[in-house]
Amino acid sequence: MPFRNTIREQKHFDRELRSAVNAMIEDFNASRVFLVDESIVIIWNVFFAGTGAFKSDEGILEILIEFSDDLPNTLSSDIFRKELDILRGSDEPVFDRPLISALYPQEKRIAIQSSGHLLDRYQTYAIRIESRFNYARNLFHAIAPKTGSRVLDVGTGAGFLAYLLRVNGCDMVSFDIPDTPKIFDASCELLNVDKRCFRIEKQQALMDFGEKFDSIACGMLQFDGHSESKGEWGVADWQYFLNDVYENQLREHGCLLLGFSPRIGFSVGKPNEQRSAALRRIFEPYIVSDSKIDGELVRLAHSDLKRIF
Ligand SMILES: C[S@@+](CC[C@H](N)C(=O)[O-])C[C@H]1O[C@@H](n2cnc3c(N)ncnc32)[C@H](O)[C@@H]1O
Repeated sequence: MPFRNTIREQKHFDRELRSAVNAMIEDFNASRVFLVDESIVIIWNVFFAGTGAFKSDEGILEILIEFSDDLPNTLSSDIFRKELDILRGSDEPVFDRPLISALYPQEKRIAIQSSGHLLDRYQTYAIRIESRFNYARNLFHAIAPKTGSRVLDVGTGAGFLAYLLRVNGCDMVSFDIPDTPKIFDASCELLNVDKRCFRIEKQQALMDFGEKFDSIACGMLQFDGHSESKGEWGVADWQYFLNDVYENQLREHGCLLLGFSPRIGFSVGKPNEQRSAALRRIFEPYIVSDSKIDGELVRLAHSDLKRIF
């Protein structure tokens, strides 16, 4: 049974939540993300879902919005924004406020953190979870998808971006090559990411996904063979790929995001490992300068794709 919140409780939550968030910002790690996410869920479900907010709750709603956006759990922050609008009189009152859920359900958090055989199985996953999750989180923010957008996650790996897209209400499709490391399969399974098997090949069209996409994201992409010693894509290969995306995969208002890793970008990483000068000339104008993504992020609108090839 929900009960009415009091000023004293709000102050408590504000303080607890802020210290959890500050700890998360200072040292980003998965268990801190879980903690903040879980605290937000508890505060909303217990204190707001049943009764709605009261005038004195504006501050805490603003905090919940800020932190949920940061996680990112934009489905929750949209609910909090609506509540704030109601409170400020710019939206109609609602009587059925939804319960929200955590990004990581409890049993999954326990599975990741527990010892025993799972620790062996998920050791790599657990160790690298922070940096991979952080990357996916920043890529999610760079895409900034609306609820219901159709998004393709290319080379999903551990499945974090696909997962964030799904839990934030996107119509998500992801794929990876058939022989990814087992740890990626286990992670996708744990996160309920439905990934398809497909390998991008030089000068061959992508598979038919049925419908076009609002966004296509290629985080830390490897499909251009750059990390392998042979078969690196040249300009003609990239042009084939971009043309295929333009013609067959991307909606007219959509955009393609290409994430190049810090090690092998255009102007980052060791000079002898960087992508060629010809490719740099093509992509450099489209590098997002204020991106929080490690490495270089290239954003191409549908019309940019046409301009390039
Ligand atoms: C560095 S991981 C990045 C994973 C994830 N996108 C991320 O941002 O954390 C690169 C991913 O690309 C996938 N990949 C490599 N070559 C590919 C190809 N030819 N077609 C599709 N995916 C490929 C790998 O299996 C791997 O999962």
